[in-house]
Amino acid sequence: MRTLIYNLRQKIKAKTKNKKIFAEAYAAFKKTGTTSPEGYTALLDLYCSTNGKFNEQAHKEIIADNPPKKINGPLTGVPGTIDQKEFENLNTTLNKNGYVGFTKKADPELVSKIYNYALKATALTAPKYDKKIVYDPQNPVSEIYRFEQNDLVNNPDIQQLIMDPVFINVARNYLGCEPIFDFPAMWWSTTFLKEASGEAAQLYHFDLDRIKWLKIFIYLNDVTADNGPHRLIKGSHLPGAKQQKLLDRGYVRIPDADLVGHYKTEDLVVILGEAGAMFAEDTKCWHKGTPLKTGHRLVLEFEYTSSMFGANYPKFVIENGSEAFKTFCANNKIYASNFKFKN
Ligand SMILES: [Fe+2]
Repeated sequence: MRTLIYNLRQKIKAKTKNKKIFAEAYAAFKKTGTTSPEGYTALLDLYCSTNGKFNEQAHKEIIADNPPKKINGPLTGVPGTIDQKEFENLNTTLNKNGYVGFTKKADPELVSKIYNYALKATALTAPKYDKKIVYDPQNPVSEIYRFEQNDLVNNPDIQQLIMDPVFINVARNYLGCEPIFDFPAMWWSTTFLKEASGEAAQLYHFDLDRIKWLKIFIYLNDVTADNGPHRLIKGSHLPGAKQQKLLDRGYVRIPDADLVGHYKTEDLVVILGEAGAMFAEDTKCWHKGTPLKTGHRLVLEFEYTSSMFGANYPKFVIENGSEAFKTFCANNKIYASNFKFKN
């Protein structure tokens, strides 16, 4: 009993200390745009010790001075034309389940343009990510080929998707503020390794680069049960929904055996989809990629956030910005705050 009370006191002390560190780090971040390592560690600790409740509270305070634009009428983008009612439905599902699929698929021509780019462009390979090579489907030499984010933002088709008004509005509704475009990511997953790879995020984990964020995923080839479908645990993004004893392990990857028995089978979601299938997810959900039995998988992912507090990344340098992209960034300063134009 005494030990229990002692442990509880220690936990409360640690929480109070972390809240103070976070508040100081956030105040400094507002002035400098940079997050101190202690501030980021405090955020990770607070997420785990409060089972996500801290993030929700901090997010509410952050967005108070960044209200969302009022959007009236339907918007047209890669997922088709979406009216206000449908946006509301998407947001309700997203809030409840932690993910939502778009009914329409992305235009096949756009998908094949990006797919063909990925077959020609160089990408970084595990484990060191220090060599850029072109993926050879006949001879994979790594379980993952990660494209450099700065290369992605200079691709005109990806710039087009970054400007997509439907994606932006889904993020706006979910975050309840004007979103910031955080980063793009695109990678090949291959059959190079036969077991689950931590490197390729094939063990359950949650992301925590930021206080609150939303990701949009686009499958760029057909994804079946055999070539690495994305998996997630429905509803596990909600505050209080994770097992505290797993969060007490910290910000780490969790073997299936420790996790899946806790949830209903119907909540263990596997996302299959043809090339062009798209979904939005709050990756606070437990999620992972499935190890591949055959073939490969190419995914494009965007992250939208309410604040850049958290992991520090350099700004993206746009060398090949289309006129439309330049104008768009000039007109959407918050959203485009991570882009720097070279010319
Ligand atoms: Fe992840």
